[in-house]
Amino acid sequence: MKRVVLYSSNSKRRDASSNCTVFPRWAEQWDEVASRHPNCELYLVVQLNGRYFLDIYDGELICEPKRMHVVVLPMEAKHAEFVEAVTALSPDVAVAIPGPVSGYDWNGLRDATIAEALRQRGIETICYTPKTAMDCFDKWRTHEVLKAEGFRVADVFYVHHELFTTNKLGDACTGNVYAEYVLWEVQNMEMPVVIKSTTGSSSMGIHIAQDFDDARDFLLSEELVEDVVVEQFLNGVEYSTEVHGCAGNYVVSYPYLEFSSTPSELKDPLGTDMLKIGPIVDPNLHVEELRAELARMANLMGFAGIMNVDLVLVDGEWYILEINNRWSGITTLVTASQGRLPYDVYVDQAIPPQKDYGDRANLTYACQFKMREGNLDALARIADEPSITSIIQYEVRMPGREPFVLSDAVMGGFASMRELLDGFDALQKAYPEQIPAQLAKALRERVDA
Ligand SMILES: Nc1ncnc2c1ncn2[C@@H]1O[C@H](COP(=O)(O)OP(=O)(O)O)[C@@H](O)[C@H]1O
Ligand SMILES: [Mg+2]
Repeated sequence: MKRVVLYSSNSKRRDASSNCTVFPRWAEQWDEVASRHPNCELYLVVQLNGRYFLDIYDGELICEPKRMHVVVLPMEAKHAEFVEAVTALSPDVAVAIPGPVSGYDWNGLRDATIAEALRQRGIETICYTPKTAMDCFDKWRTHEVLKAEGFRVADVFYVHHELFTTNKLGDACTGNVYAEYVLWEVQNMEMPVVIKSTTGSSSMGIHIAQDFDDARDFLLSEELVEDVVVEQFLNGVEYSTEVHGCAGNYVVSYPYLEFSSTPSELKDPLGTDMLKIGPIVDPNLHVEELRAELARMANLMGFAGIMNVDLVLVDGEWYILEINNRWSGITTLVTASQGRLPYDVYVDQAIPPQKDYGDRANLTYACQFKMREGNLDALARIADEPSITSIIQYEVRMPGREPFVLSDAVMGGFASMRELLDGFDALQKAYPEQIPAQLAKALRERVDA
């Protein structure tokens, strides 16, 4: 019996009323994964705020997996408590499963330091290094690392906010020379530019400046309180993909097209008009070259678990926009195409599968869309449709925005893009209240284009 201990820390102090309901339940998904590994003892060490791992309702665990053991740490547990809890289980191998979090998307950083501490105790642990976590968390660092290794990225200029706004020298100084330098450099950039926080997520606070005056005003505005990058605007088509695995054993997914049924400059990951579809295997788009580049990146950076890479295709050339070192907004989509569950990706690192998920022949077409549906009975009916692989319903609470409910659905298992479109049409016609006809139309138009 091999003992595999999966762990995921989460810095969110979550309100008990902020619920998340999943079809099929997380517990059922864990049990399905566990049933594939009868010679394995699976343990899960998580916190009560771990939204993607436990079925929690009103702050209580409402359903637990039967085929694995769960250790629930208190919401306040940090690095040390995780190291002790995982050590106490004497794992043959520990596996980090970093999850997303709003605000600062930094859970992977803690999971990586936990991994280092476990390794120092002689426990084999699968996770990337803290350096790689930082290189992904900080968009400026991502740019520097990728550029130095010859990957295609947008031109970027970094602005140290404290220095840019400093007044420390007072009257002893005639002016802020660093600010002068920054504005000089920005003035020489090709417009438009994108200005974004080095540690931002979910497209929050991103500003597209059309000209230099616009960029300068934004940089000088009082609302800006953190370091940013000023980045060349990439006028292209957005895609996203994932790399799964660790230590040289990587599955690089094909890209998935992401678009909005209502035109917008910025991707709104929480928008209900957002559609994602794939895998995109078109050789005219040089997808195999892209995959080879991403495999090179995975090896260089020592990827582990699920790594999500945002891409922009500009005139036939792939640009890497950012790396999310965690379970991502397309994980349920990519794994639906692969015919496995997200949790399989983590366990498969410890016990390699027979199937090659990088092989096109093993993939089916899938699509992801969002609904504003809050009624759980209605969602349960949609989730029962054979083509639906998962629905995750959760409440979004963001500063400056009224809380709202979002239901994120994935349908998959289609042999061709055509069949997927027909399947989506049929689903839309069956549930017109939940799925606007506009989505089906936009999907068809986009695929035909
Ligand atoms: N250089 C760029 N060119 C064009 N669009 C961009 C650029 N940078 C960001 N965007 C837009 O903003 C979105 C979010 O940017 P991203 O760098 O992925 O940060 P995050 O997803 O962490 O907020 C992108 O999906 C894209 O729509
Ligand atoms: Mg992004």
